Amino acid sequence: MTRLIALGLATALLAVPSAASAQAAPAQTATRRPDVIYVPTPEEVVEAMLQVAKVTKNDVVYDLGTGDGRIPVTAAKKYGARGVGIDIDPQRIKDANENVAKNNIGDRVKIIQGDLFETDISEATVVTLYLLPSLNQKLLPKLNKELKPGTRIVSHAFDMGDKKAEQELDVNGRKVYLWTIPIK
Ligand SMILES: C[S@@+](CC[C@H](N)C(=O)[O-])C[C@H]1O[C@@H](n2cnc3c(N)ncnc32)[C@H](O)[C@@H]1O
Repeated sequence: MTRLIALGLATALLAVPSAASAQAAPAQTATRRPDVIYVPTPEEVVEAMLQVAKVTKNDVVYDLGTGDGRIPVTAAKKYGARGVGIDIDPQRIKDANENVAKNNIGDRVKIIQGDLFETDISEATVVTLYLLPSLNQKLLPKLNKELKPGTRIVSHAFDMGDKKAEQELDVNGRKVYLWTIPIK
């Protein structure tokens, strides 16, 4: 009898951790950690990025890791473009959707929760980045594969290793880089 009770207790103890980890797994895969933390681009740098890319109403501007969505919102509001912001962090998605609503620009800006490395970006004509040099380099094959020739890529602060930019600006001490697809 004592042996039976001990056996039952051991089985129960073994079952608890496996049940707990089975429940935790989907939450981890649904929202993996961002590759880089949120730091917003100052408004004057946003303006410079959109200007150096010569954004017009005919453009579709994708911001990969959009934070509060300020880049697609400005692209739509001031330049008449269509904007798409992608972010992996649910808090940033909430902020970006609030920004879109506050600016009443929901017909021209879409916010997508997802991993920028997994999301289809093929309709973009302009792509904006404020990530890290290593992430820019990791992204390069996707950019060259999915984007049409002539699509402009603008990065705040970070270059792309040995891929020389066509233009390099200094905006109040902050770097902005421009490339055009295909980037060789
Ligand atoms: C430095 S902030 C730039 C925000 C905005 N683009 C700007 O310039 O103001 C980087 C953003 O990328 C997001 N991020 C990081 N890794 C990501 C990933 N794998 N997929 C989508 N978003 C990601 C972060 O949540 C953060 O909001």
